[in-house]
Amino acid sequence: MAFLGTPRSPASPQSPVPVGFGRIRLLALATALAVGGCAAPTTPQAPGSAGFARVAAPLSPEAASTSVAKPGWATKTYAVAAANPLATEAGRQMLQAGGSAVDAAIAIQMVLTLVEPQSSGIGGGAFLLHFDGRRTQAFDGRETAPAAATPALLQAADGKPLPFREAVVGGRSVGVPGTVQMLELAHRQHGRLPWARLFEPAIALATQGFDVSPRMATLLAQETALKKDPVAAAYFYDAQVQPWPVGHRLRNPELAAVLQEVARHGSAAMATGGLAQAIADKVQQHPTNPGTLSVQDLAAYRAVVREPLCFDYPVSDGPAGAAHNYSLCGMPPPSSGAIAIGQILGLLRHTPAAAQALQDGVPSADWLHQYTEAARLAFADRAQFVADPAFVQAPGGDWGSLLAPDYLAHRAKLIDSSSMGERMKTAPAGNPGDVRLAYAPMAEQEEYGTSHISVVDAYGSALAMTTTIEDGWGSRLMVNRGLGLGGGFLLNNEMTDFSFSPADAAGHPIANRVEPGKRPRSSMSPTLVFDKASGQLVLSGGSPGGALIIHFTAKTLYGVLNWGLNTQQAINLPNFASLGGPTLLEAHRFDAAAIQSLKARGHEVVEVALPSGLQAIQRTPTGYFGGADPRREGLVLGD
Ligand code: GLY
Repeated sequence: MAFLGTPRSPASPQSPVPVGFGRIRLLALATALAVGGCAAPTTPQAPGSAGFARVAAPLSPEAASTSVAKPGWATKTYAVAAANPLATEAGRQMLQAGGSAVDAAIAIQMVLTLVEPQSSGIGGGAFLLHFDGRRTQAFDGRETAPAAATPALLQAADGKPLPFREAVVGGRSVGVPGTVQMLELAHRQHGRLPWARLFEPAIALATQGFDVSPRMATLLAQETALKKDPVAAAYFYDAQVQPWPVGHRLRNPELAAVLQEVARHGSAAMATGGLAQAIADKVQQHPTNPGTLSVQDLAAYRAVVREPLCFDYPVSDGPAGAAHNYSLCGMPPPSSGAIAIGQILGLLRHTPAAAQALQDGVPSADWLHQYTEAARLAFADRAQFVADPAFVQAPGGDWGSLLAPDYLAHRAKLIDSSSMGERMKTAPAGNPGDVRLAYAPMAEQEEYGTSHISVVDAYGSALAMTTTIEDGWGSRLMVNRGLGLGGGFLLNNEMTDFSFSPADAAGHPIANRVEPGKRPRSSMSPTLVFDKASGQLVLSGGSPGGALIIHFTAKTLYGVLNWGLNTQQAINLPNFASLGGPTLLEAHRFDAAAIQSLKARGHEVVEVALPSGLQAIQRTPTGYFGGADPRREGLVLGD
């Protein structure tokens, strides 16, 4: 029985503010679109019955769709949080049947492939951070570049970087999918239910059909390239090539059949035989933008288990109460997520921000100045150093060098945190330790995607999994084996997470350039927080959002750990970011005085939709409390 609890009393009261998007200002590189205001129904089960905002936001994974206030959910024994109610329910069913957190995540991922196909699926990659009550492991199912990929993959014939959209649509951008094999690896170690059982909810839904959700309909209505793929056109659009509306019952018999194969034969069903051939053909036979991914690439793919990247996070006396020591664990490279979050939080500890409370429920201009300056320093290091560890040496031979307290204390001196302190003219990369090869920094580029799952089970295990096909609708290629069944699944465009330029103007190589077999750098930031003294889990969380994932996740962690909010309140906080350039603020969430104050310190402020998709679950004295992002369709269930 699902338990929909009432929100706990906030430790420091914040009313969950429904997000409304009016007319927004966009970065020069984006096109502004008028946005309708959004009503805010309060029932979490009925996301998006209001009008839908339409936003083309810069550097956002998927456009904003709507905003629905969420209450947050208290549970006693277990909890599951995912981006779509049908997916959350599949996870809950597995936990109710005695399954583990990993079992639930697998059932969720299979349903997400069907009901949130724009964000993640079996044609993509994922990271899963798992805690079994004792040990934390980092499962890496990141896509790899095909063996025939070259550093020029994302360049035009003249050597210039391809326009992002030209690179994305077609076979060129497709990496070798890793999600299914990663889940299989995690299931071998931590599964309790039989593998095939975990596919039952998705197979049933694909066979019987599901109602197109408001978010999916909104994103379909905005999408232009998907209909050029004949399989996708026949599945997502009617005979007049109009996208299916909200509530249309969509059946996907091809996906049901594919999932039956994977349920029977495991990840081998995707790596060999007819399905592998169909994937390779789809990529290689694209009429205008073919790729090289082959059946050999699929057979050669290996998910890996890594040591998580963990760091201490002491919080001094402040708004959240007495001082407390936490340990935060995240994904090491090829993700840049844990390093960047750890740097931002670590740098802020050395500024007055650490003692600053929210003002009228939102971060103050002073705090935002220090946060975004810390972010610029973190993004400079990310651009300089972070890439697939199989190809690139960590500074000083250890990624922990980028999180060393002395290093961060030194770097924090670059932030002018005096009263009305000025923004740095430039934010340089640091010198955390020797590197074998000095790389050129990678320019910040468009980066998209993604869905987040958090689960805690009845056995004391927990996970945070962030999963992606990269851009909304991935490469826009839908695989179908040609057996007369409609539908299929989408392939990722993860290769566009590599640097489009392999080298800088002087010819110095960029760490995150394309190389055969390499995993592209990611921003995905599944995070587990522990009490340092007891080792007990405190929180599991993460978000979609391309490079903004780092900020959405950091905001939520800071809200809970430093400001004493519950997960729902922390998720509800307005979003803010800097990727090195302008200071991005979620539109209509900050007052004119705060914006003016930032500008007076030298910030270029851009108000924009920042549609995070956070899910987070925290431990409470009586069980768990989960939050889901009002900006998307997520839901928490449990018992
Ligand atoms: N494609 C989203 C990420 O890996 O950051």
